Amino acid sequence: MSTKQNTRLAASMAIIIALVVVYLAPTAFSQDDMTEVPTSAFVKLERPIVAFEHDTHNEKAELEDCVVCHHSKTDAGLMDTENSSEGESCDSCHPVTPENGETPLMRAYHRQCANCHSTSLKGPVVCGECHAK
Ligand code: HEC
Ligand code: HEC
Ligand code: HEC
Ligand code: HEC
Repeated sequence: MSTKQNTRLAASMAIIIALVVVYLAPTAFSQDDMTEVPTSAFVKLERPIVAFEHDTHNEKAELEDCVVCHHSKTDAGLMDTENSSEGESCDSCHPVTPENGETPLMRAYHRQCANCHSTSLKGPVVCGECHAK
């Protein structure tokens, strides 16, 4: 191999490594590091951010089945409670201000979190308990 080819090879290797690093970077933050519900979709927050230690919460609440919270969408656009969408953010299917009749993000959270707490008689159900300062 000529020096020129070697330089080219080195350059393309560097690009590949850079791409791999960029691709892997987001997974460095995983659900076990989560301490609060992500709020970046909301333009402006009216209430304090809700604390949610993903893994600790789910262990205490004995929620082993991910699909309890991470449901998917059927081809017909209905709620799919068979397949998990873990890793997809809620706002990817529940916009803050939907245009096509989807459940808005705030309501999606309120229904999912508070409904389970009130039916199981465990966990917070009052505004200030979830949106605690
Ligand atoms: C079971 C927990 C829970 C309870 C109870 C609850 N919320 Fe929320 N709420 C959430 C979560 C989770 C979000 C989305 C993440 C966030 O905003 O921190 C949210 C989002 C919101 C938002 C949109 C984001 C913002 O700050 O503007 C508002 C407004 C809100 N809640 C108001 C209320 C009010 C008012 C009550 C009482 C009537 C209430 N919530 C009760 C969990 C709860
Ligand atoms: C009590 C509800 C609940 C259960 C049960 C649950 N999750 Fe989550 N998970 C959430 C919420 C809420 C988020 C934040 C979603 C968002 O970013 O919009 C999340 C986010 C995630 C993320 C993305 C993390 C990130 O960095 O954004 C992954 C991956 C994940 N969950 C995996 C799992 C797996 C695997 C299970 C089952 C072992 C599970 N979840 C069970 C509520 C739950
Ligand atoms: C892959 C798409 C998808 C993701 C991701 C998703 N959902 Fe849904 N969800 C749906 C569909 C489709 C429906 C039924 C249509 C609707 O209400 O928007 C639904 C319905 C709901 C409902 C029922 C609304 C009612 O009428 O009772 C709640 C609550 C809900 N989602 C909460 C969440 C939460 C919280 C998350 C994140 C942890 C989440 N969803 C993630 C697709 C999704
Ligand atoms: C399917 C049921 C279920 C869902 C969905 C659920 N929770 Fe809970 N949650 C529980 C139970 C059960 C407890 C009580 C656990 C215990 O025994 O301490 C709890 C406790 C809590 C607590 C008290 C502190 C702690 O970590 O134990 C907070 C805060 C909380 N939940 C927030 C949330 C938020 C925010 C969501 C929505 C993203 C949510 N929960 C969704 C069942 C649920």
